[in-house]
Amino acid sequence: MNISIIGAGNVGATLALRTLENSLGDVMLIDIVPGLAEGKAIDIADSAPIVGHDRRITGSSDFGRLSGSDIVVITAGLARKPGMSRDDLIYQNAGIIKTIALTIKKLAPKAIVIVVTNPLDVMSFYAHRLLGFDRSRGMGMAGTLDAARFKNILSEELGVPRSLIETMVLGCHGDTMVPLISKTFVDKKPLRSVMKPEAIARVVKRTQDRGAEVVALLKTGSAYYSPSAGVLEIIAAIKDDTKATLSVSTLLEGEYGMKGFFLGVPATVGRSGVQKIVPVDMDPDEKEAFRISAEKTKELLKVLPDA
Ligand code: NAI
Ligand code: 2OP
Repeated sequence: MNISIIGAGNVGATLALRTLENSLGDVMLIDIVPGLAEGKAIDIADSAPIVGHDRRITGSSDFGRLSGSDIVVITAGLARKPGMSRDDLIYQNAGIIKTIALTIKKLAPKAIVIVVTNPLDVMSFYAHRLLGFDRSRGMGMAGTLDAARFKNILSEELGVPRSLIETMVLGCHGDTMVPLISKTFVDKKPLRSVMKPEAIARVVKRTQDRGAEVVALLKTGSAYYSPSAGVLEIIAAIKDDTKATLSVSTLLEGEYGMKGFFLGVPATVGRSGVQKIVPVDMDPDEKEAFRISAEKTKELLKVLPDA
């Protein structure tokens, strides 16, 4: 597969490395800063003989290199700094998304597009609107990351291997995200049977705040090791046509009683992109949290510039 990654910053470059080392395809890394993508691509390629893969990576600041992409991942844009929310990035990142989406539309009209740029659900929707692709070929990455964070924190708290935890995180990628407690199992047992409500609430809050926790520590940017892994999970599902059910930000067209915007919901992902949105039964309190999260995304859409 030809996988283009736009933005050779922290998330983009780490994703390029992961993609190659997992042999998911050849990578075209593109950044607006001359030399940045080229330099990182050469550096990554030089590691291949040691790591032992035979995949190719090319870096460029020429967007013409996008043509022929099967998948385009957009990681270009500003990342938040301490004290900023993801939503503070909306104006500057919308401008970046606009230029990039129109270029993809022209040069890679058959590609599946995965948006990473924040604020995630709004930028994914904006890209979709500008691209004009059907909904299967445009999605945002956040739920795979947020679920990984929730699993990792739960595993530390409970002292159980991460592999024994099943869960799903839905809604808007932000403070209102909804870790689904009713669908969280530890070694097949419902979370509520192994953890007290106060402890569950604490873990949920830590998950919702995890991105900010990393930003506060790094001081110069936001997380990228786990976000790049979150994108990798989606690329692998597309490449291998696994039809795995993953939480992705996708256009709702009546599912969950909502339509006309992007939100994190479970969907099967395969070779054609987002295939089917999967319905999930939620408890009344989860339904309410999901509704609030959707409202938050809709509010942000109001300040989005016209396409
Ligand atoms: P970064 O600052 O390390 O890299 C961003 C790169 O984008 C820079 O190299 C910059 O030169 C490039 N860029 C800016 N405008 C461009 C354009 N028009 N065309 C091509 N490249 C351009 O930032 P980082 O940490 O890689 O984060 C990137 C974005 O991803 C941010 O908006 C961040 O908030 C978001 N993010 C989203 C996550 C999610 O879960 N959805 C998780 C982590 C980050
Ligand atoms: C995160 O959750 C910044 O959205 C990014 O780490």
